[in-house]
Amino acid sequence: MAGPRVLAANVVRAVPRVMTASATASLWRLSAQAGRARLSLTRAPRHCLRVASYSSSAGGAASSPPPPSTLSSSRPATIEVNGKTYTTDEWYNVPQTVLALTGRKLHLQKDHPVAITRQIIESKFSTATYKRYNEFDPVVSTIENFDSLGFPPDHVGRARSDTYYINETTLLRTHTSAHEAELFRASASDGYLISADVYRRDEVDRSHYPVFHQMEGARVWDRTKVPNGDVVAAIYADLAKLPTHDVKVEDPNPPHHPERNPLQSKHHSPEEAEAIAAHLKRSLELMVVEIFTRAKQAAARQDPNYVDEPLRVRWVEAYFPFTSPSWELEVYYQGDWLEVLGCGVSKQELFINADQPQQLGWAFGIGLERIAMLLFQIPDIRLFWSKDERFLSQFTGVQDNLDKLKRFVPFSKYPACWKDVSFWLRSTSAAGGNTAVANVHDFHENDLMEVVREVAGDVVEDVQLKDQFTHPKTGRKSMCYRINYRSLEKTLTNEEANDFHERVRQGLVEKLGVELR
Ligand code: PHE
Repeated sequence: MAGPRVLAANVVRAVPRVMTASATASLWRLSAQAGRARLSLTRAPRHCLRVASYSSSAGGAASSPPPPSTLSSSRPATIEVNGKTYTTDEWYNVPQTVLALTGRKLHLQKDHPVAITRQIIESKFSTATYKRYNEFDPVVSTIENFDSLGFPPDHVGRARSDTYYINETTLLRTHTSAHEAELFRASASDGYLISADVYRRDEVDRSHYPVFHQMEGARVWDRTKVPNGDVVAAIYADLAKLPTHDVKVEDPNPPHHPERNPLQSKHHSPEEAEAIAAHLKRSLELMVVEIFTRAKQAAARQDPNYVDEPLRVRWVEAYFPFTSPSWELEVYYQGDWLEVLGCGVSKQELFINADQPQQLGWAFGIGLERIAMLLFQIPDIRLFWSKDERFLSQFTGVQDNLDKLKRFVPFSKYPACWKDVSFWLRSTSAAGGNTAVANVHDFHENDLMEVVREVAGDVVEDVQLKDQFTHPKTGRKSMCYRINYRSLEKTLTNEEANDFHERVRQGLVEKLGVELR
């Protein structure tokens, strides 16, 4: 939250960011990317569920017994999601506001920009090979979301500060990769595409929302089913069937690297991994070229002065617990390199554990809102959830004719009204079993974000850490956050903003136990 923020095209921001109490996950990013400043489209940096090792001693990761409950004072005994009932326990941390969004399914709502983006991506993957799964339930087990993908037990992504838990072993999926293991086991096709809503506890700003949508894809080959058992030849034969494109692709790194991006040498020959990578890269380049070509066409149709610049894309090395080697695809857009998707050669353990040891292949994941924001020039992620006709009507008819795709024309922006809140955290010694008290060590910024969201919902545009210091004598820590209230639908009166703010202040006292200044 704090620290340098650059908003490019009002969509994405530069990393690295200054690490605040709850930004532990960005550690993954920083270590993996060696501090390279980049912009992210799959999801903000702290969300990408990558990075091998993470020490739980740095705080934030899940551990057993569960971390003290900070926000569960009014926990229901059971909850219902899409018609199914689940029993909660002390891990429960899903606010009603988030629960209410589980049924929206924006990726399936006709002519919604998220659904249009899904359709454009799907159009680049043949239905004969890639079976579609668009109706998976958002409630999954910790095994599906983490263990089946090789996430270590202390991985920061498992922390209650980052993930919505229903109970200790049940959560709202944080990514569509949660369905990889079951689909590999079912082995119903040579490939698949999943689109679904995913859930992550997070900060509040114009590119973050606790619910967003991802698309996941995979392609597998079976050693026992390819001609002459020659899987390399089979993969290259499939690659030869794909169209080509004329976009310049920078791919400076070797196809695998012993330290940075290892081959799974126990399972794959270099030729096999290279064949899979080649098929993966062409398939995803074709998808990205399609998206950005459509974005440019829409821009050119609407803006007679539009200057067409050649599309530039590049592959960079990445890390995910369930692929190796791994990459991200970046696109040069309005002066910055944007991370568009994550992908890699699937870890062979996934196939072995799915009783398909003879199969091998690749997988990718992409965040749909980020792509849609770029395609349609949508400036604020809250708009996707709006039922305002001034938003929705702008996309009518696009799914039936993608050439009708137009950039979003913002309706007037209502004035913002920001208010600061300052408070003391308890000093360390005050924790003593009191679970509702935020001290220096168990204060998670995402808990604050959630209090703000619960009180003011979509009326909050963003929340930023303005200031923090530790009192030299008492050792107590003080924090100041600036909350920017701005409705997408009307002008807020100062009274209304004050009312929200007062309730936020009370919520912080009640739920986090802070002392207001
Ligand atoms: N699930 C990953 C994420 O959310 C993306 C991914 C999917 C990476 C599949 C590799 C393979 O960041």
